[in-house]
Amino acid sequence: MICDNLSVKNGHLFFAGRDTAELAGQYGTPLYLMDEDRLRHNCRVYREAMGGAFAAALPLYASKALACRRVYEILAEEGLGADVVSAGELYLARSAAFPMDKVFFHGNSKTDEEIAFAMDCGVGYFIIDNLDELAAVEQLAARKGIVQKALLRLTPGIDPHTFDAVSTGQVDSKFGVPIETGQALDFVRRCLEMPHIRLRGIHAHVGSQVFTSQVFYDTADIMLSFMAQLRGKLGYTAEILNLGGGYGVRYTEDDPVVDIGGEIGRVAAHIKDGCSRLGLPEPMVLMEPGRSIVADAGLTLYTVQSTKTIPGYKNYVSVDGGMTDNPRYALYQAAYTIEPAGRMDEARDFVCTVGGRCCESGDMIQENVALPRLRRGDLLAVLTTGAYNYSMASNYNTVGRPPIVMLSGGRDYVAVRRETFADLAARDLP
Ligand code: LLP
Repeated sequence: MICDNLSVKNGHLFFAGRDTAELAGQYGTPLYLMDEDRLRHNCRVYREAMGGAFAAALPLYASKALACRRVYEILAEEGLGADVVSAGELYLARSAAFPMDKVFFHGNSKTDEEIAFAMDCGVGYFIIDNLDELAAVEQLAARKGIVQKALLRLTPGIDPHTFDAVSTGQVDSKFGVPIETGQALDFVRRCLEMPHIRLRGIHAHVGSQVFTSQVFYDTADIMLSFMAQLRGKLGYTAEILNLGGGYGVRYTEDDPVVDIGGEIGRVAAHIKDGCSRLGLPEPMVLMEPGRSIVADAGLTLYTVQSTKTIPGYKNYVSVDGGMTDNPRYALYQAAYTIEPAGRMDEARDFVCTVGGRCCESGDMIQENVALPRLRRGDLLAVLTTGAYNYSMASNYNTVGRPPIVMLSGGRDYVAVRRETFADLAARDLP
């Protein structure tokens, strides 16, 4: 199976050592399951690898992958920092008592209200995206009488050869300030003139679902030579280098297994090499993994509501969830592995499209899936749904979002409860 927290017993799919059919019976479907032990393991892989490889380092969890209180609590216990991209994520993190000094506030379009809120929360760092934000942060920090620590977001001009929609490091990007055009140098110069901002370093995020460290080598090369330029031209030494989002995960058997610990060791060796070549002190290194912390710790269970065959065309299976809890196929044609959770030992001779429940033809979870001949009431499990599923869920068709049930050491508990009709109506006029 694609991850070692999955197994099969008596024809049932087991996840984190638990019978998924039993859990579906207990909590209903659609249901997000999260393997807490796997999540903690993923945190430790980054922490141990980065802690061992760099003189100073911290993995920051990219909250956008999955933000809920319980996840923030676990991350805090595991000693990670966090990147947040909105006052909402910051609010959730704070309400879970996440240490604010380890929070980095991202975003290319922060409002004055969000900036002020983040300062009031005592957020550790702003990752300032552009000149307008730089001015706003300076002004608000001055008004509050504080000196705000910050990194500057730069675009190194690298195409990570992943999906266009999720690559953010090219020169032509809505994020950050490009190095190639000379604008980044001016950005740093201006930041250093701001009395209420303490510039600690620079940031670049090149892409998501990255399988080879080449992208990090290239990013580090460009960022380190820019750091050398900053020393030479401005007499400024950046203390922190943030390399952005983390490694890719296995959605299907076709995706490679990444030895994250080994890769981080190689990235560290590359950075140390670069520093000694350029005569730079080794910076503190940050990474911002989201997907690779939570994706394989998650699985979604659905119940089949209907199947149909259109002779000469296709077979369809419709489930009780869809783009409302997982919009990634509709948005990116993202690949997933689907398992017949209660009929794992049966022949898979029914090739079908698994569709969601929403009134939109594009509401699919996957096409060309080989499954047993399913019936109404059968269970389906979609694997590797821990990242960018709950966080991108919606209430389209006024469908409530599923609960998140955590599994740990044989125990199960609700981390986020199922949305009720009352929740759906809560903000409307009475
Ligand atoms: N840091 C920054 C600045 C980012 O923009 C991102 C992701 C990350 C870190 C985390 O990257 P990760 O380790 O999760 O790959 N909704 C899309 C993913 C968008 C990712 C955007 N940025 C999806 O469902 O695939």
